[in-house]
Amino acid sequence: MSRRKLLEQLAFGTGVAATGMASWPLAASVIQPLRGEAGPPAEPWVEVAIEKEVRADRPLKATLRIPVRDGYFTTLVELGAVWLRRGSDGTIAALSGTCPHLGCGLGLDAKGGFACPCHESHFGPDGGYLKGRRRAPWTRCRCASRKAACWCRPCDSPPDKVRRQI
Ligand code: FES
Repeated sequence: MSRRKLLEQLAFGTGVAATGMASWPLAASVIQPLRGEAGPPAEPWVEVAIEKEVRADRPLKATLRIPVRDGYFTTLVELGAVWLRRGSDGTIAALSGTCPHLGCGLGLDAKGGFACPCHESHFGPDGGYLKGRRRAPWTRCRCASRKAACWCRPCDSPPDKVRRQI
């Protein structure tokens, strides 16, 4: 084989490989929906904690993350957070981690309830309104126990301001 022929074949092979790599994301975006792999299902159940971690004396904050496949990348996408607490009857209740006023993250306060750092709304341990800008209890989330783990569905509704714009 001549040197010229060898270089022609190498250039052709490199071109075919580069074209294949460049067209892979396009092919994946066509094939994935056909295989039913497009994006997350609506309101998926997400494992958020081991049941034993959820205690009655202190709420546990858990983040809902789901794997989302996009082309050949799979990334974990956050769907919000929940506060988990075990009730006196042993059942686990979940409250959204987002303030219902304008969507800031809620944290624990010194009295065992919850407080929003943005406009100082306060809620009781069960999510009931105590004081501040938001006069209604915030969102309860759907959770279930399965295989010694706690599973929740995304529960954040749009905050007040977004809801008014819709
Ligand atoms: S965002 Fe929480 S009180 Fe305004």
